[in-house]
Amino acid sequence: MTALLDRLAGRVAVVGSGIAGLVTALSLAPQPVVLLTRAGLGGESSSGWAQGGIAAALAAGDSTDLHLADTLAAGDRLCDEAAARAILSDTASAIDALERFGVRFDRLADGALQFGLEAAHSRHRIIHANGDGTGAAIIRALSTAVRACPSITVLAGIEVRRLLTTEGAISGLICAGPNGTFVLPTTRAVLATGGLGGLYDASTNPAGNFGQGVMLAARAGAELRDMEFVQFHPTALATDRRPLALVSEAVRGEGAILLNERGERFLAGTPGAELAPRDVVARAIGREIARGGKVYLDARQALGARFAERFPLIHQLCAEAGIDPARELIPVRPAAHYHMGGVVTDIAGRSTIEGLWVVGEAACTGLHGANRLASNSLLEGTVMGLRAAQDIAGRPEPAVRTAPDVKSVASPDLRQVRSIASRDLSVVRDRTGLDRAIAGLLPMAASAGPSSDPALVALSIAVFARLRDESRGAHARSDFPETHAKAERRTMTLAAIMDAAHRLNTPMLAQSA
Ligand code: SIN
Repeated sequence: MTALLDRLAGRVAVVGSGIAGLVTALSLAPQPVVLLTRAGLGGESSSGWAQGGIAAALAAGDSTDLHLADTLAAGDRLCDEAAARAILSDTASAIDALERFGVRFDRLADGALQFGLEAAHSRHRIIHANGDGTGAAIIRALSTAVRACPSITVLAGIEVRRLLTTEGAISGLICAGPNGTFVLPTTRAVLATGGLGGLYDASTNPAGNFGQGVMLAARAGAELRDMEFVQFHPTALATDRRPLALVSEAVRGEGAILLNERGERFLAGTPGAELAPRDVVARAIGREIARGGKVYLDARQALGARFAERFPLIHQLCAEAGIDPARELIPVRPAAHYHMGGVVTDIAGRSTIEGLWVVGEAACTGLHGANRLASNSLLEGTVMGLRAAQDIAGRPEPAVRTAPDVKSVASPDLRQVRSIASRDLSVVRDRTGLDRAIAGLLPMAASAGPSSDPALVALSIAVFARLRDESRGAHARSDFPETHAKAERRTMTLAAIMDAAHRLNTPMLAQSA
């Protein structure tokens, strides 16, 4: 290992093997890169499980302006318009890059891209690769390209546990692998570690994804933004399987309807009905379940025998649960799906720490605001991977800095944190639950125990959610159902979050907060 580490020292370190990490590593070629991946190339990742496609305003009659307008509307006035415009403007080059790396998008007989429609998009603009298996097809193609790329060294089965800094700049990574803990000296790290759905019992993300990028960057002193905004997908397949399988919004797009256990179409009176914004549908389903009811997706009329052909992956996931969606109702429930907040970055992916870039779901660029528009995430991951690579390649290589001494860091244990987050930081929040979550999470986050890292991420969500005394986008407070006229974003370092948590956890002071 020592000889290998000596050879890899100083290379750009990319952490994560979802779409953003793979695109970053490939785009840096021929610059040497070390790619660290916990699950291994092609292993579980939210990108690989994506059933939606990539939002690409490239069809005749569509434009970046129209895509931007839909993105801003979904974001509930919390998007950074300039950042969103910059990212969406790169759509054509992002799709070109993916094709260059080997992704084959679904096309019509005449060779033109095939554009589908998803909720809250005003145009048909969603492109797929292999239908509802889009994420898997993209990750397969990119992983193949990475394996064939001589400038990328992949270290699989490796978890990054801490970022090391020297005088405020990145100087190395503390990594844990099958042979123990080691330090990888580097002055340039790119975190592409994905989301934090694993903090919740009901999630469509890999169970181990607890927001590692947020935790690593925050511990190194980076700023976090909009941490309270967790998007819950309304229709995960309600089974005992963990993580939950997704039943894409596209099934409702094809006309499937939602029924409760009494056979009532409970969204019939809501504008948009089953295709109302994702947070509206998730809350309506959540209410049915909270009163002890059950919710089902009925695709029998809309799709019937066509289901297997139109949605082969979802058909297979249903079959694994013993459900035939052509003839039977599909039980569904909301599940944590995507995190809009995260590590503050500019539109080159640069965080507030020198030498640290963050791309994909772990970052908060300002594209998504309070609610992500469907299929904007694979686009953002690709665009930001390209942009970060360009930014890194355009800078002189800093000299290796002496990294501080290493201590081994406990392997994270999510169990206690997951029960608190699932109960108190879910689809609808209130002050009682948020105060209870802060009281439970604060001692864990402040400890050096195995719950500390996930607790720190969950505590950040709780503090941001407690401080946002309104409902906006994906953040719903039953005690503050209104939306403030002025839309404000919040940015905090870990030190500020811990201070706020202590203040909110002091009953006398919390009364006035
Ligand atoms: C879906 O297919 O419903 C999910 C798409 C997305 O989350 O962007």
